[in-house]
Amino acid sequence: MSPEQQIVTIDGPSGVGKSTISRKVAASLSFTYLDTGAMYRAVGLKLKESGVDLSDDSAVRSCLATTSLDLIPPAEGCDDVGVILDGRNVSDLIRSQEMAMVASGASAVPAVREKLTSMQQEIGRAGCIVAEGRDTGTVVFPDAAWKFYLDADPEVRMKRRADQLRANGKAVDEVEVLEMIIKRDHDDKNRSMAPLAKAEDAHVIDTGLLSIEGVTEAILAVIGR
Ligand code: DC
Repeated sequence: MSPEQQIVTIDGPSGVGKSTISRKVAASLSFTYLDTGAMYRAVGLKLKESGVDLSDDSAVRSCLATTSLDLIPPAEGCDDVGVILDGRNVSDLIRSQEMAMVASGASAVPAVREKLTSMQQEIGRAGCIVAEGRDTGTVVFPDAAWKFYLDADPEVRMKRRADQLRANGKAVDEVEVLEMIIKRDHDDKNRSMAPLAKAEDAHVIDTGLLSIEGVTEAILAVIGR
């Protein structure tokens, strides 16, 4: 298989362990890890800070036209991919619960999806990539060689997300985290453009039943490594 064909997509709702698992799979394969959610978070931040009305298509487009976005490797002691937005490091800022909801809102805007989908396809053109998100197997890389859809009970995902936030020194209200997970699932699955969905040819893995290592091994076994 040529490098361009070697694309792994890992989609699923929030809190299923997608980022950790995707990063591990990418490291095992020596592939590039593409965190598409980080891009939606950064663009959500830009639109919010610029006070752009998300229903105003031309305002969104002109704001995006002057936006620069670069993904950077996780900082020392941190697991998340970082983002430089218009020359500013917004890596910490985009990881809050509030920014997750802002990103979800921005991700339903057609102009945002068009811009980020084409950026992601450009990044993926060279192949040897593990792309993680909501629509990477359905829309961004429909011809990917290996597709996975991770899922788990909302309660399991809430516990994971709460632990993650605590580990990052953030205060946690579990009821609020669960409510946000349920709302974000609903919004991400019901938007009209590129909703969160399983690709027909994706392998489904319930991450509530396996450890992170177990899921990673299951994925690598399908890929044949
Ligand atoms: O994976 P994440 O929690 O960082 O993603 C934040 C939001 O971005 C998520 O609620 C929906 C949106 N998103 C998307 O619409 N499509 C993607 N491929 C990735 C994320």
